[in-house]
Amino acid sequence: MNIIEAMKERRSVRSFDGEGLTDEQKAKLNKAIEESYSPFGGKLTIRLKEFDLKEGYKPSTYGMISGAEDFFLLGIGSDEASALTAGFQFEQVVLKAWQLGLGTCWIAATFKGSDFEKGEQWPEGEELKVICPVGKAVKPSMKEKLTRLTLGSKNRKPFNDLFFYNDFNTPVPTDNRFYEALEMLRIAPSSTNSQPWRALVVDNSVHFYYKPKSPASVLDTGIGICQFYETEKFYGHSGNFSKLTSVPTPPEDWKHLVTYTAE
Ligand SMILES: Cc1cc2nc3c(=O)[nH]c(=O)nc-3n(C[C@H](O)[C@H](O)[C@H](O)COP(=O)(O)O)c2cc1C
Repeated sequence: MNIIEAMKERRSVRSFDGEGLTDEQKAKLNKAIEESYSPFGGKLTIRLKEFDLKEGYKPSTYGMISGAEDFFLLGIGSDEASALTAGFQFEQVVLKAWQLGLGTCWIAATFKGSDFEKGEQWPEGEELKVICPVGKAVKPSMKEKLTRLTLGSKNRKPFNDLFFYNDFNTPVPTDNRFYEALEMLRIAPSSTNSQPWRALVVDNSVHFYYKPKSPASVLDTGIGICQFYETEKFYGHSGNFSKLTSVPTPPEDWKHLVTYTAE
């Protein structure tokens, strides 16, 4: 399965088979962690950890996740760069997991004092802010189906409500070089499916903005930008991210994050 197929097929998985990962799967996921990368700086530590269900650990405390034994734990710094990096870098691992036939579900919350915090030390300035179960998916439970329905997880906002060309009123032409990469960004996962990402294409640059919707909006936008960048790479394109001092002033309360310029 190539990366484009993985992005199109991936969905959040909350019901797992209770079997746990094999050593081979763990090795592959740890390699994916090692190979994941971010150009945005900040502080991020990704760990894969097994929890023994028999030891009294109760994943059910965290809502509708069932049958998961293995979790990624993310220690993330408190600044904007760390949030952007966490989204951009960990989504690479999520997509790799899907390519290996394994489901995941990003869960961003406070885990202070929870079983997930026990025995974990994080580098200076980092805190456990995201956990993510990983394993073989089984048929979604009724609870999971309801969650998906409530969040409208199957749906995404229309392309032309999110992405613009030259000014904030003109749609991106379908033959534009960035069209498909933006489409892959559009279908990315986000907390409560909030899709805070916005973008403006000008010549060979894409200015990325976000509409602040929750504390996870920058992280969400990092996930979307990962899917954009993976598409660029897949088609053999290259480019660089930079934080420009002067960018087109967006409407409303959107905030500029980074600009991608094609080489
Ligand atoms: C940063 C982040 C945090 C999330 N937190 C939760 C969560 O706490 N509980 C949950 O059930 N789903 C969570 N999700 C999953 C989203 O609800 C899901 O990605 C969205 O509804 C789109 O559905 P899909 O991933 O199946 O495409 C989170 C997703 C992201 C990206």
